[in-house]
Amino acid sequence: MLETASHDPQSAGLTATRPQPCSLVILGGAGDLARRKLLPAAHNLALDGELPENVSIVGFARRDYDDEQYRAFAREAIETYSRRPLEDEDWAAFAQSIHFVPGTFDDADAFQRLKSRLEEIESEHGMAGNRIFYLSIPPGAIEACLDQLKAAGLIYPGHAAGPFSRVIVEKPIGRDLESAQQVNATLAKVLDESQIFRIDHYLGKETVQNILVMRFGNAILEPLWNQQHIDHVQITVAEEEGVGTRAGYYDSAGALRDMVQNHLLQLLCLTAMEPPWGMTADVVRDNKLAVLNCLRPVSDCGECVVRAQYAAGKSGDDDVPGYRHEQNVDANSTTETFVAIKVFVDNWRWFGVPFFLRTGKGLPRRASEIAIQFKEIPPILFNVDPQRTVAPNVLALRIQPDEGLSLSITTKLPGAKLETRPVEMDFKYDTTFEKQSPEAYERLLLDVMAGDATLFMRRDEVEASWTWIQNIQESWANENIQQLAEYAAGSAGPAEADELIEGAYRQWRTF
Ligand code: BG6
Repeated sequence: MLETASHDPQSAGLTATRPQPCSLVILGGAGDLARRKLLPAAHNLALDGELPENVSIVGFARRDYDDEQYRAFAREAIETYSRRPLEDEDWAAFAQSIHFVPGTFDDADAFQRLKSRLEEIESEHGMAGNRIFYLSIPPGAIEACLDQLKAAGLIYPGHAAGPFSRVIVEKPIGRDLESAQQVNATLAKVLDESQIFRIDHYLGKETVQNILVMRFGNAILEPLWNQQHIDHVQITVAEEEGVGTRAGYYDSAGALRDMVQNHLLQLLCLTAMEPPWGMTADVVRDNKLAVLNCLRPVSDCGECVVRAQYAAGKSGDDDVPGYRHEQNVDANSTTETFVAIKVFVDNWRWFGVPFFLRTGKGLPRRASEIAIQFKEIPPILFNVDPQRTVAPNVLALRIQPDEGLSLSITTKLPGAKLETRPVEMDFKYDTTFEKQSPEAYERLLLDVMAGDATLFMRRDEVEASWTWIQNIQESWANENIQQLAEYAAGSAGPAEADELIEGAYRQWRTF
């Protein structure tokens, strides 16, 4: 068999800039995010030899821990949540880089202690003083925390030569346009935009990074990637779990704020954007922003949003209570746990192509994918009989789980008759690469250490997405509905969502 020459991936221009030695300070270091994601991610990076030689991890939280106690906390977190088992030998070296400073956000002395501790660590290891502050804290604490960091002299000016200080902010950035603008203004008071890294962890997923590679690293797709050849796009982010223990946050957020404003719109941007002329942060983000600016306001597209709540049902074999009966959920809650939206990107490339977005909790399984459905072939040759139409080609990018992509192609069924059937060309990450993909937070932490903001949201992007979302929020506020449409937990969503897509002569892909 002839094979084409293999190419060095480095030459493809995808290698990130090098991460710099630094201290990673996790404000909210004893919280859920640190435990489930950040500490395991840092440990995996250490195991893979990806961290620069000198990196220290400093937890800052209310708990009265010393270094050893925080190390025990980190060890438990890694043993519970890491994608890889912890080995004593590796742990011993990694543990030495972990420290803890107790304190609260209203305690100026605690921030002074943090500063002294960082200076000690930096001088012990001969580090230049680069610092990353991960704000793993409630949105309401951001301003106080930034003020304290600034007052303690922990934030250097953005463009000054010498060591850097960078700040990572978690979603939600606001709960509507106005509050998002306020959060951004608070950040801008003490930081230059180049120092701010707004996380949307979906951007760190391997399969999401692959969207641009797949689109622009292959000659065969780009010529077809437009309204001439694509019938519609479906973007699904489905979760099997219900609200779980997060009702306190979720009941005042809902699926539109929690998932659509960020993760789904980011997936839409990567699918719809124009080819960037380079892989630098601002070029990529300019192109994503251009998509957001072209989204047709939902008020101009008729019946195009469905929201619903899960009712009692099943998750696997287990009974699940209805959303309104979940712990800490208001018994009259009208918070949506499911949203489906038909949206148009009103530009030359996409005019008239509906993008169907769908996300929800309490669905049959965890499944996220972007499916591109191409137009039907003409009713000539193999598509003549209306009773036996030829299924259109679908390119499905499976974001998770079972990461990979598949393309359905019409083929002839072997035999004397001329019958056709769609078959799937399927690529799976695990069988092709035979190794686990890194977790999103691993890549994102490295990028902040390298100062590469390509996979982070810029201020204008966040505000543009809220501008579009606000339109939906306003129409919901005007409806002032008392009871949402329902779907049984474990079912594929409400009938209204089916009507939304069927009204456009299409069908949702099944779970
Ligand atoms: C978070 C949402 O941003 O993403 C959660 O707040 C959701 O509600 C989660 O469960 C889904 O992330 P993933 O990576 O598990 O798909």
